[in-house]
Amino acid sequence: MPVVLKSAREVELMRVAGQIAATVLDELEQAARPGVTTAGLDELACARIRELGGRPAFLGYRGYPACICTSVNEVVLHGIPGKRVLREGDLLSLDLGVEYRGVFVDAAVSLIVGRGNELAQRLVAAVEGAFRAGLEMAVPGRRLGDIGAAIEAYARLQGFSVIEGYAGHGIGLALHEEPTVPNTGPAGRGMRLRPGMTVSIEPMLSAGRPETVVASDGWTVSMRDGSLSAHYEHTVWISPDGPVILTAR
Ligand code: MF3
Ligand code: CO
Repeated sequence: MPVVLKSAREVELMRVAGQIAATVLDELEQAARPGVTTAGLDELACARIRELGGRPAFLGYRGYPACICTSVNEVVLHGIPGKRVLREGDLLSLDLGVEYRGVFVDAAVSLIVGRGNELAQRLVAAVEGAFRAGLEMAVPGRRLGDIGAAIEAYARLQGFSVIEGYAGHGIGLALHEEPTVPNTGPAGRGMRLRPGMTVSIEPMLSAGRPETVVASDGWTVSMRDGSLSAHYEHTVWISPDGPVILTAR
């Protein structure tokens, strides 16, 4: 499948979708307090996305049963909301997709419920930092590998590993489009970035080994060694002048 370059009108629609995603993620962050269940956060997300005129893009995607992913501690991706009660110090990753008038955006944030330990705080900061490092490379003329290499170098410098087997992706007219946007190098390799590309940049880091396992529910991705993990993601437009975050608050 070829890469779809987006028109100015499509980018504007994605910006509106991005504002819905940002608003709801912000509200979820406020709501993620000790004692709250992950299903409670999902209910809030479904309701607010719809109130703001969007459709929860994850719900029903390949049979996914919820509006958001709630991944706690050693769960790094695609945690299904449920009865789990959040506790002080949990590292929670919230991942959310919005469809709006035929366009899609995707964004995720990691946070600590209440107060966390130093490792959790460093990991949450590092995964956002790794995203920023990758974002700086999302410039026309650079290559996909430059984004991955920047993310990987930043993560290593902070003492964390980049999880294996998962990456960012093109997005816009579908939730997942070409190309794959790697979280590792080498730099200078891969497709050249062009104005009009819209991509999700989404580093996933672990405090331990990079290998993951998928649970028998077919979704929940956990660190094989049980280590703490985090995820951070925005939908980014590669404009002629450089990267623009469409899901910014
Ligand atoms: N941000 C996640 C990804 O790009 C979203 C998964 S969609 C879901 O892989 F429906 F499977 F959750
Ligand atoms: Co994504």
